[in-house]
Amino acid sequence: MAHTESKVVVITGASSGIGEATAKFLAERGDKVVLGARREQRLQKLVEEIKRAGGSAIYHVTDVTSRSEVEALAKLALDEYGQIDVWVNNAGLMPHSTFDKLKVDEWERMVDVNIKGVLYGIAAALPSMRERKSGQFINLSSVAGHKTHPGGGVYSGTKYAVRAISEALRQEEAVAQSNIRVTIVSPGAVATELPNSITDQDLKPGIDQLYEAVAISATRIAETIAFAIDAPVDTSLNEIIVRPTMQQV
Ligand SMILES: NC(=O)c1ccc[n+]([C@@H]2O[C@H](COP(=O)([O-])OP(=O)(O)OC[C@H]3O[C@@H](n4cnc5c(N)ncnc54)[C@H](OP(=O)(O)O)[C@@H]3O)[C@@H](O)[C@H]2O)c1
Repeated sequence: MAHTESKVVVITGASSGIGEATAKFLAERGDKVVLGARREQRLQKLVEEIKRAGGSAIYHVTDVTSRSEVEALAKLALDEYGQIDVWVNNAGLMPHSTFDKLKVDEWERMVDVNIKGVLYGIAAALPSMRERKSGQFINLSSVAGHKTHPGGGVYSGTKYAVRAISEALRQEEAVAQSNIRVTIVSPGAVATELPNSITDQDLKPGIDQLYEAVAISATRIAETIAFAIDAPVDTSLNEIIVRPTMQQV
C-alpha cells in the first residue's frame, strides 16, 4: 500500500525503541510527528535529526501518567498542525518479576503507564477526532497480551487490558460511525531498552538471553505501524501480531 497523504501522528514513548524508530520512519516518508516522552534531551536530539533530514517533528516533554501532560501533547499537535490523524499509545515498561518478590511499586508503575497512559491518550485525542470524523488509535499491546508466563503476570495483565480497551473503543466508534480506526499492534521480542526495566535478577538473564537470540529491529514495528496507517480509510487493521521468525512463544 503506497503512502499517499501526509498525516499528523502523535507518538508517546518516542525517546527510544519502537517509538523512536516509528518517529523516524514516518517522518522520512513525509508524516508530521509529534513526540512525547520524559527524557527531553533524547526528544530534542531526535527532532533535530528528523528536521536535518527534511522532516517535520515537534516534541513535548510528557509523562503519560499525568493526564494534563498528555492533554498538553495533544494541544501542541492541534496548535501546530491543526489536527491529529493518528495517536500511537506506545509508552510502556516491562519490569517482569514473580509475585513473591512483592515489587508492588513496579506493579503500580506498569498499571499507571501501560494502562492509564493509554486511557489518557484516548481521552486527549478522541474529542478532536470525533469532531473531524476521522482518526486512528494505534495501541501497543504485546504477545504477552495473548498469553502469560511466570514473572509476566502484571505486564501481561496490562497488555490484555490494552486489547480489551482497544476492542471496546473500536466497537463504540463503529456504532458512532465516526470513521475512527483502532489498531492493536502486538509485538514479540524487539531489540529496544525495554528489558532494562527488569530488576528481578532471577529472571533478567533468561530474558536478556531470549532478546539476544531472537529480537528483531524496532524498525520492523515502525513498518508494521505504517502499514496499518496506510490501509484504506474504510478498512481497519484491528490487530497485528508481529514476532521474530525465530521466536517460539
Ligand atoms: N521491545 C519489545 O520486545 C516489545 C514487545 C511487545 C510490546 N512492546 C511494547 O512496545 C512499547 C514500546 O516499548 P519499547 O520496546 O520501544 O521500549 P523502550 O525502548 O524502553 O521504550 C519505552 C518508551 O516509553 C517511554 N516511557 C516510559 N515511561 C513513560 C512515562 N511515564 N511517560 C512517557 N513515556 C514513558 C520511554 O521514554 P522516557 O523514559 O523518556 O519517558 C521510552 O521512550 C511498550 O508499550 C512495550 O510494552 C515492546
